[in-house]
Amino acid sequence: MPVLRFPDGFLWGTASAAYQIEGSPLADGAGASIWHEFAHRSGTIAAGDNGDVACDHYRRYRQDVALMRELGLGAYRFSIAWPRLFPSGSGRVNAAGLAFYDRLVDALLEAGIAPMATLYHWDLPQALEEQGGWTCPDTADRFADYADGVFAALADRVRLWITFNEPCMFTWMGYAVGAHAPGRSEFAQALRAAHNVLRAHGYAVRRFRARRHAGTIGITLSVQAHVPANADDPDDVAAAARSRAFNNEWFVDPIVFGTYPAALRDQFGDLLPDIDEADRALFQTPVDFLGVNYYTRTIVHADPSGFFEARACRAIGQYTAMDWEVYPAGLWLVLKQFHERYGLPLYVTENGAGFEDETVGPHGRVEDVDRLRYLQSHLEMCHRAIADGVDLRGYLLWSLMDNFEWSFGFAKRFGIVRCDFQTQQRTPKLSALWYRRVIEENGI
Ligand code: FCB
Repeated sequence: MPVLRFPDGFLWGTASAAYQIEGSPLADGAGASIWHEFAHRSGTIAAGDNGDVACDHYRRYRQDVALMRELGLGAYRFSIAWPRLFPSGSGRVNAAGLAFYDRLVDALLEAGIAPMATLYHWDLPQALEEQGGWTCPDTADRFADYADGVFAALADRVRLWITFNEPCMFTWMGYAVGAHAPGRSEFAQALRAAHNVLRAHGYAVRRFRARRHAGTIGITLSVQAHVPANADDPDDVAAAARSRAFNNEWFVDPIVFGTYPAALRDQFGDLLPDIDEADRALFQTPVDFLGVNYYTRTIVHADPSGFFEARACRAIGQYTAMDWEVYPAGLWLVLKQFHERYGLPLYVTENGAGFEDETVGPHGRVEDVDRLRYLQSHLEMCHRAIADGVDLRGYLLWSLMDNFEWSFGFAKRFGIVRCDFQTQQRTPKLSALWYRRVIEENGI
């Protein structure tokens, strides 16, 4: 008997993203994505890796769905690659590209696994980037058409939809920092891109509602626990709140309240686009839930010379291979904060840990004890949040398999299933066997 039981109907699953696992990026008439282009630019990705093959999931999806079934997954979060459906970003649907997701959805349903589809996990068609990408307002209209094409084909079977994955990450890393595709580095562009992404989100939700689909739709945010270095120092407390506004609330405040957080206006001044009446109504198109991706916390010191007059400092604790602190209580904290601030149902749409468990042990198994402990301690915090009244509906672990970890390439392993990138062999790790039991018993 599990010690901590989850509510009946709690959704257990894993999460993934198209470019990180599929491979065959140009197959069946697909267009190039910005990630394809970026990863092929020299010096962008560790060890010169790219997503040309990745986990070869595009060709091996049946085997992967069988694996998910063996693990007893109730749900599988995946993303749809826009350039497979619209190779140049718009126009007529590329039927062969769409057919892949059609087959995937059917295979999942046959296996009794609920599909959760993300429309955008960072792979903009390169053709649209060449016309300005997300800095161009038209991209939001193109996204609405793409979303509509996907809904028309799949919403009869997919009941859980996410418009965007981590808009703060891809706009900031892609347009301000330049470490992600498309590799631009001008933060005023990132602010414009973000505004257009919010429009695109609103249009897509409207299209979804207009079709009166049976399912639910939301958006997924990258959320960290921002904790003051000294909780008794009002300056540190205020600095943590500013960091939180930028990382966690930049995109949700406009969707729920119709405004950007005040801290963004203070930091960026006139460079932050105004939200006019039309934008406000569009942004506030009601969503059904929020997705929370949680990995770590940031300890924040006030620092007048820092970004948002804040500076992150290091904890004394365990760190993952990503150099992210393991801080389970942060998941409880952010779930509580989101629940109290926004009052919407929540899903943990990503949570997991990269550890260096590349070696297969004598019994053919990766004994990924650190990952298992990470997952268990974070699930305890989900349970605690539910006990405290948070409307948490499900947990989608990142990730089923080791995969292409963006600018880190294949060096960082997050899977509960080991992927040998040479042979494409999949080997469930200890954490996968543990997770199967959690799902079976609906508890830990
Ligand atoms: C998140 C991304 C996901 C994955 C994890 C480790 O920010 O959404 O694709 O890379 O981090």
